[in-house]
Amino acid sequence: MTRQLETAASVRRLSPPSNVGSELAADTFAGLTSTPKQLSSKYFYDARGSELFEDITQLPEYYLTRAEAEILTLYADEMMDAIKPEELVELGSGYSVKTRLLLEALNRAGTGTLYIPFDISETAIRDASATLSDHYPWLTIEGLVGDFPADLPRIPHSGRRLVTFLGSTIGNFRSPDRVEFYRSVGAMLEPTDGLLVGVDLVKDINTLLAAYDDSAGVTAEFNRNILHVLNRELGANFPVDEFDYVVRWDAVDECVSMGLRATRDMTVTIAAIGLTIRLAEGEEIHDEVSCKFRRDVVEAEASAAGLAVNGWWTDTEDRFAVALLQPKPAPRPWKLHRPRN
Ligand code: AVJ
Repeated sequence: MTRQLETAASVRRLSPPSNVGSELAADTFAGLTSTPKQLSSKYFYDARGSELFEDITQLPEYYLTRAEAEILTLYADEMMDAIKPEELVELGSGYSVKTRLLLEALNRAGTGTLYIPFDISETAIRDASATLSDHYPWLTIEGLVGDFPADLPRIPHSGRRLVTFLGSTIGNFRSPDRVEFYRSVGAMLEPTDGLLVGVDLVKDINTLLAAYDDSAGVTAEFNRNILHVLNRELGANFPVDEFDYVVRWDAVDECVSMGLRATRDMTVTIAAIGLTIRLAEGEEIHDEVSCKFRRDVVEAEASAAGLAVNGWWTDTEDRFAVALLQPKPAPRPWKLHRPRN
């Protein structure tokens, strides 16, 4: 007799696979024909890029991951207590330390057992689901593969919801895109639901720059990897080793700004999009921002999207914060105050 294995993990696709290849082609064409030249950090994360990012999280200079893990270790119970979630939706999922800290707090809170990892990578969802269902038999996992933010409204809402967007990933967006992001997520929240956002805080510039320019050169390799991606995916011929990695502090927007600088004049062909470009010696291709935050900025941007900051937890060295955002109560309608006499 064969018996269907009971499994508490499922993976579902919310929309047909988007053509990531054509998006890469279009973005690359637009970015390399504009002045200054630019590329998007969302294309960093192929298999090698994801591995290099994992290595970054272990670097002595890259304090972000450890600081956020400390916050979750100390305060995940308080976070659960603030929302009493029946379901946990993790945007940009993983089976990382932070996911485990949240799930264990959810289990202690006893308010819910549903975990919905949402990611554009089906492999990421499958790997995470398999590992987590082994570790946490009490957990129901409904992995969702979808496009961000288009598919967010398609995530089924089955009870009080806590959404997480951790790791200071929000720092990859500049201010207008952050407000847009808060708006999209706000639309999937009921008044008593919440969104946890991890944000790296503004601090001494040398500490910030060191976190993005480590002495082992891992971050430089991580950044240059985007050229390997273009060479492979779009048949480009970037001479990857002839680019220097550049990091600077943008004091106006309070972002670390990163890119690659050509060490000689060169001509590069990107075959798949029929584009040939010239780079002068010293010319830069900008490819990532990692913005840093202050509480008042998070509050202002959340507020612009109809959300309020109802919780703020920091690590013991005040390097990083996890903010709890919730829908602002609807403004009370104007009332006529009649004079009493
Ligand atoms: C994954 C976007 C949070 O900005 O700190 C690390 C990416 N780039 N080192 C960050 C990154 C260079 C990272 N995030």
